[in-house]
Amino acid sequence: MKTSKSNLMFKNAKKVIPGGVNSPVRSFNAVGASPVYIKRAKGSYLFDEDGNQYIDYINSFGPLIFGHSKKEIAEAAIKAIGHGTTFGACHKNEIKLANLIKSKIPTMEMTRLTSSGTEATMSAIRLARAFTKRDKIIKFEGCYHGHVDHLLVKAGSGLTTFGSPSSPGVPKDFTKHTLISEFNNFENLERIFKKNKNKVAAIILEPVPANMGVIIPENQFLKKVIELAHANKSLVIFDEVITGFRLSIGGAQKYYNLKPDITCIGKIIGGGFPIGAFGGKKDIMSMLSPLGPVYHAGTLSGNPVAVAAGIKTIELLEKNESRVYKDMERKAARIMNEVNDLNLKSIKINQLGSLLTFFITNQESVKNYRDVLKCDTKLYGKLFSKLFSSGIMIPPSQFEAMFISASHTNKDITQTLVALKQSFKILGLK
Ligand SMILES: Cc1ncc(COP(=O)(O)O)c(C=O)c1O
Repeated sequence: MKTSKSNLMFKNAKKVIPGGVNSPVRSFNAVGASPVYIKRAKGSYLFDEDGNQYIDYINSFGPLIFGHSKKEIAEAAIKAIGHGTTFGACHKNEIKLANLIKSKIPTMEMTRLTSSGTEATMSAIRLARAFTKRDKIIKFEGCYHGHVDHLLVKAGSGLTTFGSPSSPGVPKDFTKHTLISEFNNFENLERIFKKNKNKVAAIILEPVPANMGVIIPENQFLKKVIELAHANKSLVIFDEVITGFRLSIGGAQKYYNLKPDITCIGKIIGGGFPIGAFGGKKDIMSMLSPLGPVYHAGTLSGNPVAVAAGIKTIELLEKNESRVYKDMERKAARIMNEVNDLNLKSIKINQLGSLLTFFITNQESVKNYRDVLKCDTKLYGKLFSKLFSSGIMIPPSQFEAMFISASHTNKDITQTLVALKQSFKILGLK
């Protein structure tokens, strides 16, 4: 496969952009490859500068539930641009989007828009701390909530210790209130709550983690987390930046019939434009400035172009709800089932709805970050490269989810399965 144009662009990019990329995963470092430069994208396909075509399972890491450049969404954005790209003032579609969100995710009684998921989680935590008048928060190891300083935390020497910064530049003082727990390990969480009585403002979690690969919550785990948090008068923040409008039209909380206190969403609600949102009960959200004392703002919050694209996306989802979600799930499950039929001991697949991950490991199951760390990331890199040269773009990291969109065709899935089976054989996976 010819990639000379991309290689040259990467060389030039590295001179003026740190590492050549504006977000680290795009460097393909984690799979030992060199990134390709995308010229255009349509439906389930990416087209690079050298003229190569790929079936895209990165899907911009989640926003594109209808695939690339869906006609109706693009038209809605273009129409909005014609009316002005940003106002720094109120506009009526903000109300429409907040109402649409509320109608699909009823726990989001009130919603504030941001320009990214990172801003949404950061602001949600500030709000939770103000509301509970407590400082500590709990997060699960391996869950990602954006590049907020006090959330860039890894476990300390033991799981019940305070987290330590996972990036230089984050002072220890910033992370001393962040406690780290293990996903799918309820006893561990109980211990942390016990040790920090009346101190925990909130627990933040991806209800279905997708940033350590896809992890399936064990039976009743999420329900028990909410009950435990509420018994301790702590708030529960569901970070549904990926799962919102993806796992179901009402996100993971509808899928599992659960009620968090605050929800963060993003990605899909911007139809491919920069956006984020946090919302929850009226009494909590009413603490936000200018109603209350908790500060949150943003020059481009509620940007009219992102909002118009988001509204159109949600309307299309609403119109096609029964078909779209089932269809995406069926395609993801088909990939899982056909690979499982090969009975390869070295591959475990976690799949839920349109999200799935191939874990390269001999473990019986992968149910938390500790398990993910035992996976063979080198071999995953080789799998990535083999598929890449067959025109299949899976995520460039063992720790990212594959996204099926409504634009993936049965033919795409068949072609992907053929390439997968060939790659497994060539790599000697048993
Ligand atoms: C679950 C989750 N939360 C928050 C974020 C941060 O969102 P953004 O990249 O828009 O800041 C991400 C980004 O991938 C995410 O997956």
